[in-house]
Amino acid sequence: MEREAGPIVHRLARALSTQLIARDLLDRGLADVGHAVAADEQTAGRGRHGRSWLSPTGGLYVTFIVPHDGLIALRAGLATARAVEALSIPVRLKWPNDLIVAERKLGGILIETARDVALVGVGINLEESPIDGATSLRDEGVRGDRDAFVRAIYSELARPQTEDVVLAAYRERCATLGRTVSVDRGQGRVMLGRAVDVDPFGHLVVETVDGRVTVASGDCVHLREVWPTSQGTVSHLRPFA
Ligand code: BTN
Repeated sequence: MEREAGPIVHRLARALSTQLIARDLLDRGLADVGHAVAADEQTAGRGRHGRSWLSPTGGLYVTFIVPHDGLIALRAGLATARAVEALSIPVRLKWPNDLIVAERKLGGILIETARDVALVGVGINLEESPIDGATSLRDEGVRGDRDAFVRAIYSELARPQTEDVVLAAYRERCATLGRTVSVDRGQGRVMLGRAVDVDPFGHLVVETVDGRVTVASGDCVHLREVWPTSQGTVSHLRPFA
């Protein structure tokens, strides 16, 4: 039987951030597409929008070096969701690629570019759920094997799939569609509306009181309820915990 090719994994007991290590190895010609950097713990783990990512021992912290592609944010979310689904966990994706189980965050993905490649950083809470409102595989009653996750996510990322197939599979798993959301696009630009589509570029389409807006990137929050006011605007919105 032919063995499925996995990534070449650079494994560390401790790193500031696997994103930084991957970039450094790439710059020095010591890593390339098909490599991954994994750490048992991170002391300066990085999240999206400049946040930090708490990374105690026992979680999954890995950066994959992959070819860049316009739908990489969706492909990465999909690949990771599929690896989690294989454990019979009802995971869904909050746009663009947060892994959530019943509105609790199980994992996140940070995508950065370096030269012509993408650094896909995946963090999954396997044991602890380090912040309130998060969950972990253990909280969901499942044990996750870190090496198996690395192989499973990589093999999904490396699998050639057309954009149409990626979009269809992504939309099926996207918990944001149909939801009332607030999206913070930075520099004080926050909008409210209903998420109605993910377009062929992976952008979120939001129906607002001023019409449809397409968002390429932003921090999306699912809101618990929406109360229309007489002015047609919305009030009393509560995010999930
Ligand atoms: C998010 O904010 O949801 C994204 C979190 C991404 C965390 C992962 S852990 C592996 C890689 N290294 C980092 O420093 N961040 C990413």
